[in-house]
Amino acid sequence: MVGSRVPLTKAGREYKACCPFHTEKTASFWVSPEKQFYHCFGCGAHGTALRFLMEYDHMSFPEAIEDLAGRLGIPVPREAGGAQDSQHAPLYELMGRVARFYGESLAHDERASRYVGQRGLNAETVQRFALGYAPDAWNAVLSRFGTREADRRDLAASGLIIERPGGHGEHHYDRFRDRIMFPIRDSRGRTIAFGGRVLDHGEPKYLNSPETALFHKGHELYGLYESRTGGSLKRLVVVEGYMDVVRLHQAGITYAVATLGTATTPEHLKRIFRLVREVVFAFDGDRAGRSAAWRALQHALPEAREGREIRFLFLPEGHDPDSLVGAEGREAFEHRMGSALPLSEYLIRELSGESDTTHADGRARLAEAARPLVAKVPPGVYRELLIGRVAEVVRLPAERLEALWQDGAAVSAHAPPRPPPRVGHSAGRGSLVRQAIARLLRFPSAAAAVTEAERAGLEGCPEPGADLLRALLDDLRARPLQISAQVIERWRERPGGEHLGRVLEREAVLDDAAASAVELRAALEKLAGLGTERRLQALEAKSRAGPLTDDEIKEFQMLTSRKTVGEGK
Ligand code: UTP
Ligand code: MN
Repeated sequence: MVGSRVPLTKAGREYKACCPFHTEKTASFWVSPEKQFYHCFGCGAHGTALRFLMEYDHMSFPEAIEDLAGRLGIPVPREAGGAQDSQHAPLYELMGRVARFYGESLAHDERASRYVGQRGLNAETVQRFALGYAPDAWNAVLSRFGTREADRRDLAASGLIIERPGGHGEHHYDRFRDRIMFPIRDSRGRTIAFGGRVLDHGEPKYLNSPETALFHKGHELYGLYESRTGGSLKRLVVVEGYMDVVRLHQAGITYAVATLGTATTPEHLKRIFRLVREVVFAFDGDRAGRSAAWRALQHALPEAREGREIRFLFLPEGHDPDSLVGAEGREAFEHRMGSALPLSEYLIRELSGESDTTHADGRARLAEAARPLVAKVPPGVYRELLIGRVAEVVRLPAERLEALWQDGAAVSAHAPPRPPPRVGHSAGRGSLVRQAIARLLRFPSAAAAVTEAERAGLEGCPEPGADLLRALLDDLRARPLQISAQVIERWRERPGGEHLGRVLEREAVLDDAAASAVELRAALEKLAGLGTERRLQALEAKSRAGPLTDDEIKEFQMLTSRKTVGEGK
């Protein structure tokens, strides 16, 4: 498996090569097919095949499993993905053929080639990004790929042709005409959509594929495939445009990606943080860039945590990454990224700009404005540090600020209305169990609405208090009760019973039996997800130390199918 990525030479029972994880001239990277293990004596990189895929190909854990399972011939059940993939195989294949056609058209069209050259792109870049040209015709794609009716249906389904409403005779025409084409690829390198740029000043400047079965704008990042295959990936820089990505890669910044004419979504960030720990958002220095940055910050907050670095780079007025890297080169651009604003500082800077912090009133307003933003950050060290930073700026001890935020007391005289009661003291993981218990206590009959599967998901759940939740749930299913007081009474002498009164008192529960039951089941589902994730991590850690047993592999498959279905990707 490693051999398909790195040229290996045989050395006794093992193989060796130059290490793919650091730069070296003499081979100190050893692979043992027998032990299914690699080790580099130079940089210390080591691990199993699974680890190799994650490190070298930057696959996420489920992706690595799927890849490896594929090689070993172990089927990984994927209820959603797998079936969908084969169902859409003709569309993927069609997109690939059309991309090749656009590529050939570029090579043969003098004007388009000249434009690409004027934009400073070299042949290697054109090839790496598979850039192309959609000819200046209404039926270039249609006539080549749409002879049969079924073909035309596929072309329309992939957004390559458009149906002419109420037309006679020919009902379709090419979507992309006289444009430089940027294929958008998925994580496996399959073309799933296109962006097309006009060669002159036509409108719209960029035309994108519509949402199709293959393409969901809010999920995809242009350049991600090329970044993943461009060498060891440590960070990603998120820019706004196709041209920015392509030019940055050409300049040697092979870790640039772009959202596709949309704001950065939480899905984008999840994907990014599955691959790297560090992300820099680069925005134009103009007003549009600033408002895009602020939106990106809001979506980034739920993903912020210790060990991750999120920074914001604002480019000088009049520049975008494309023009700037052209003017300054790679080193200067990377230097700028190195000194980009950390998320916390950007947040403070923006909020301070709105309130004059030399006065108590201004500081109070800043504290108020920061509250909903800080609340989006998951509990943990990072959040505490952020609170500390805000506290510093508003000149309050951190504990005092947190206390004010916690009980929702107005920090300023002009505080907005109180937000709806928060559930639990923190949205921390431990509190999921407390929430579930509180709901069961408030509406004990909700126990009957819990399904077998939801109950089973709690088995082996490592969260504190999960034992009590399980016992309570089983008890109420076996012997239903209607009223909180009855439950607390019955549980007075039982282990854990002494906590119930307090949980009921402290946790806010919706005063609506049906809604509360729904929330209970959602909490159970989340708890099951957490359990799955931990177990997968444990198995993965084990697989690093040695091969898994057959039973463990089976468990693995079962868990990954649950997980991939949950992620829907
Ligand atoms: P820009 O207008 O900043 O263009 O749009 P650009 O990337 O600098 O392109 P060049 O240098 O003029 O060729 C940024 C991104 O916004 C989306 C595209 O994804 C584009 O790359 N966009 C822009 C559209 O989708 N449609 C448009 O009409 C314009
Ligand atoms: Mn540009």
